[in-house]
Amino acid sequence: MNYCVVGLQWGDEGKGKVVDVLAEHSDIVVRYSGGSNAGHTVVVGETKFALHLLPSGSVRPNVSCVITNAVVVDPDVLIKEIETLAQKGITLKDRLLISENAHVVLDYHKREDQLREESLGKKKLGTTIRGIGPCYADKAGRSHAIRMGDLRNLEEIKAKLQTIVEYKNKVFAAVYNTEPISADRIYEKCKSYADQFLTFTTDTTEFLHRSIADGKSILFEGAQGTLLDLDHGTFPYVTSSNSSSLGMPAGCGVPAKMVDKFIGVAKAYTTRVGAGPFPTEQDNEIGQYIRDKGNEYGTTTGRPRRCGWFDAVAVSYSAKIGAIDEIALMHLDTLAGLKEVKICKAYRIKEDRGQKTEDRGQKTENRRETRPAEASRGRTTWFPANTAKLSQASPIYETLPGWDDDITEVNDFHKLPSNAQNYIHRIEEITGKKIAIIGVGPKRSQTIFRAEGRRQKTEDRRQK
Ligand code: IMP
Ligand code: MG
Repeated sequence: MNYCVVGLQWGDEGKGKVVDVLAEHSDIVVRYSGGSNAGHTVVVGETKFALHLLPSGSVRPNVSCVITNAVVVDPDVLIKEIETLAQKGITLKDRLLISENAHVVLDYHKREDQLREESLGKKKLGTTIRGIGPCYADKAGRSHAIRMGDLRNLEEIKAKLQTIVEYKNKVFAAVYNTEPISADRIYEKCKSYADQFLTFTTDTTEFLHRSIADGKSILFEGAQGTLLDLDHGTFPYVTSSNSSSLGMPAGCGVPAKMVDKFIGVAKAYTTRVGAGPFPTEQDNEIGQYIRDKGNEYGTTTGRPRRCGWFDAVAVSYSAKIGAIDEIALMHLDTLAGLKEVKICKAYRIKEDRGQKTEDRGQKTENRRETRPAEASRGRTTWFPANTAKLSQASPIYETLPGWDDDITEVNDFHKLPSNAQNYIHRIEEITGKKIAIIGVGPKRSQTIFRAEGRRQKTEDRRQK
């Protein structure tokens, strides 16, 4: 089986853990987009790993780890990550492959990211300042790009860096009035990257196709989340790559039809780091409760994450464009102790210049609910991935009773408090997707597998 695991919200859904659990049955794990802006936490026994660039499955010592073409590689971060794993007794020797066509994040990218964010003041995007956007911009611009395979020819890189750094320094001085950076210093770093990484650098597309032909099982790991996708997310408050599952085929050269199952990961609530619209945000004591209990602070930047209710409109959209087969719903334990829990099942969006926001599905629902025509105006169950529209959206909630019990030791769906089961069922009904995996804590063992999800739901109802 080949799986693709992808986030359905704004990142940090708990993909790291889902991937780690699935990697047990995989031969190869693949990172196909983004860079060290990602932060994946994996807990093995008592040891916690915070990974940024390596696939989360790399903590399993027997799997091959592949970083493909569309990933932007910061070799400084990669070196640190490899060392951290080595200190914990995990080696990547002979099992790491990096695409020769993956672009390299260099110091000037990080500098540019930081300077641009600072210059934007209140209008900043809230990036991770890892140089991701500037590196992808150079990739699209082509003439200033450096790829992993280029490290094979250091003479050429030396000449190229002179041109690039001269240009960057002119911009840094003219626009940001800052000190120049040294091309020689970056060249020295490139030399050391060549020493350390050329043995891992290869044609990963060929490797993946050969592996598929040999019947190996591959796990494709998404980074960030669908709503941060450059083309399909909440632009400009997005990352600079196709972080949805749509980015998988382009990112690694393997067609989506070679994937047997797409698993979408969502949290039982919603979080977002950085700026941008967030309709279900709870900037109040509920948000704080979730932040503290769920330890919602960024793995990469340490920033407190914005927290809010589960947004079924957003998740349904992500599931639709991502051809998601099943949902993994993480952090269900975090919601314990709340008197009531809410699911956003539609938005009301002020109609703009005669735009009709009502969709067909909603019309049927409104008829059923015999809503007055007035009340249904501007109501939609389709997520507008357009920031101007989305910032006008007010959530329409369904409120459900909460549960008090600690569920962190529960390993069977039927042993969950009935209100928690009910919460899961409602999310399944609203999104139309099966919730096959439920996370009740950070450890591998704190995972409920519910392969019979849908059938069980029907049975449960029959029993009622
Ligand atoms: P960048 O990817 O560093 O350019 O940041 C752009 C936006 O994406 C910011 O709002 C970041 O907080 C967000 N972002 C990038 N990577 C992640 C991630 O792994 N999890 C959550 N948010 C992310
Ligand atoms: Mg993260």
